[in-house]
Amino acid sequence: MSTAPRDGLPASAFPARITVPEILKRKTSRDSSGQPQSKIVCLTAYDYPTARALDEAGIDILLVGDSLGMAVLGYESTLPVTVEDILFCSRAVVRGTSRALVVADMPFGSYQINAEDAMREAVRFIKEAGVAAVKVEGGERRLDLIARLVDAEIPVMGHVGLTPQSVHAMGGYSVQGRTEDAAERVLRDARAVEAAGAFSVVLESVPRELAARITAELRIPTIGIGAGPDCDGQILVFHDFAGWTYGHTAKFVRAFAHLREELAQAAAEYRDAVRSGTFPGDAESYHAAAELRERLAPGKPARPIGARR
Ligand code: KIV
Repeated sequence: MSTAPRDGLPASAFPARITVPEILKRKTSRDSSGQPQSKIVCLTAYDYPTARALDEAGIDILLVGDSLGMAVLGYESTLPVTVEDILFCSRAVVRGTSRALVVADMPFGSYQINAEDAMREAVRFIKEAGVAAVKVEGGERRLDLIARLVDAEIPVMGHVGLTPQSVHAMGGYSVQGRTEDAAERVLRDARAVEAAGAFSVVLESVPRELAARITAELRIPTIGIGAGPDCDGQILVFHDFAGWTYGHTAKFVRAFAHLREELAQAAAEYRDAVRSGTFPGDAESYHAAAELRERLAPGKPARPIGARR
């Protein structure tokens, strides 16, 4: 992933881009109590200004998630999201970052049909958007696909537990791994993702104890969402993190800002300022040069504007 010059400054003025091997190292670098020295901090992002703000704040990984479908496009699930949607947003997110590692989520239908299509689409994310890695949902049943992608030098982030693209097969968005058999399945999925060569794995909506067990067992970092605090990193959907959601929010969400209310408040103030004539003010207006200003003054139609001398 290239680091483009920004604000007229050379790439050397910005911190170096985080790499896949550096993310892997975060797993192995532990302090004396066995805790990872620096947890991996991830958020989703879908556009340039958001990516830029999060990058400048030091977020390690920005995922262009297919949560785009619900968070930004107003769909009821992630299923309608297309490769073109993710490509479009990934380009903007890459342009907005100089340090964060950008991962593109492979949307439903882009890797389920056959391996050739999946490879072609994954290559597009790397080549056309400039992301460093792709994410695919599923464990054991994705083993071959992940191995092929990794063999083609495409780093892969896995995703097990609650996999939203399986909403119909799972019968909804419920916590996974609650029974012994179900926990064993999630564990097998996580092991498969690691065995296939993924550089990290998202654990979504699983009991804390199961996530802790998987984190302790795997050599690759685990990134939790609704998986408790023992994972090697955490991820939240940007709009959940920013308090800009409509409808139900999951138990695991913490809003670190309240953008929905702040935007509504700002929009109401703007509306009132326009209606009352206090916006724009004089300082927010352009001004004509002195001579023209005089000729334009009301009650002074000395010569029609545009007339020759
Ligand atoms: O699409 C997405 O945002 C995700 C995260 C929740 C991990 O898959």
